Amino acid sequence: MKINEHYLELKANYLFSDIARKVMEYREKTGKDVIKMGIGDVTLPLAGEVITAMHSAVDDMSKKETFRGYGDEQGYGFLQNAIKDYYSGFGVKLEADEIFISDGAKSDLGNILDLFSSDNTVLIPDPVYPVYVDTNIMDGRKTVFLAADEENGFLPLPDEDVHGDIIYICSPNNPTGAAYSREQLKLWVDYALKNNAVILFDSAYEAFISDPSLPRSVFEIEGAEKCAIEFCSFSKTAGFTGTRCGYTVVPHALKCGDTELNRLWLRRQTTKFNGVCYIVQRGAAAVFTEEGQKQISENIGYYKENAAIITSALDELGITYFGGKNSPYIWLKCPNGMDSWTFFDYLLENIQVVGTPGSGFGANGTGFFRLTSFSTHENTAEAMRRLKALMKK
Ligand code: MLT
Repeated sequence: MKINEHYLELKANYLFSDIARKVMEYREKTGKDVIKMGIGDVTLPLAGEVITAMHSAVDDMSKKETFRGYGDEQGYGFLQNAIKDYYSGFGVKLEADEIFISDGAKSDLGNILDLFSSDNTVLIPDPVYPVYVDTNIMDGRKTVFLAADEENGFLPLPDEDVHGDIIYICSPNNPTGAAYSREQLKLWVDYALKNNAVILFDSAYEAFISDPSLPRSVFEIEGAEKCAIEFCSFSKTAGFTGTRCGYTVVPHALKCGDTELNRLWLRRQTTKFNGVCYIVQRGAAAVFTEEGQKQISENIGYYKENAAIITSALDELGITYFGGKNSPYIWLKCPNGMDSWTFFDYLLENIQVVGTPGSGFGANGTGFFRLTSFSTHENTAEAMRRLKALMKK
């Protein structure tokens, strides 16, 4: 046999696995418990509407008349239509068959690369969600990094002198929390159209946008249907990190020559994927009911209160930070010139608080650190109390 040698070019471990291992070792060594504000994992239970819908779907599975076996690989019509209606709420018109239900954005962000030749050049912002980088390394694709820094507000814009065929955009951004305006996204759409490139747009955090002037979907931008694929997830929007459901939008208008990418993706999914569990899809559809929307926005409001607890502590300490307003992530500058991993160890060892070192998201993340607002109120407040006591020593 021959292995895919590109795997040997990857860092030994996935960022969040590395952190989990370090925390486990620390716990074993000291017997101390830690407050987790590292990986963006939710703490509130699923909304009542979702649970009711899932219970009733379990009942469906218990009766001959309503039992379901294999579903369509691309998802059930009831969920595709619920998503279609949700998009029409921000003025985006989609066809149900442009929406593909998945087990989450992470899988599809990796799987979509099946559609693209490995000799494409990929533009990836730095810092960035490590999945975009690692999945392209696995395929041996050439990557060009776009510096996201304080100077450009962590929102790099196209450079006509830098050519890319595949462009990753995550807005609101993981890890920095920065979000593109309509005007800025339009520049990327125009660039993609001009360069015959595709934008892979990760909108996993759209539900956290507070500023109504910001776009929730790349398809709010004119022309995007001809150059973009959008990935979204119920993980952060509705607490599905353990339940697993997401969706990918591949418009019919997106073509390479005469070939519709929608047709290729359907072919890929019907061959390699057997769809998401019926019970989970019923739960996901309940997110879009009136009551479901009310309940999930209460949960998002809870996490936003955590973000406010974090940012007010950082304000008090005079620590520079970004994000937190339109995003569940707070991206802070490590105090006293510490590097990202030194600050990680400093917090873990002194106050038993876990965050994510910025350098794990790319070279431009060096000297930065990410905290999530997905913890409980109690733990967030306690972590900030400890941080203030430590930094004021
Ligand atoms: C993160 O912490 O960056 C995310 O939770 C990771 C993910 O969504 O896979």
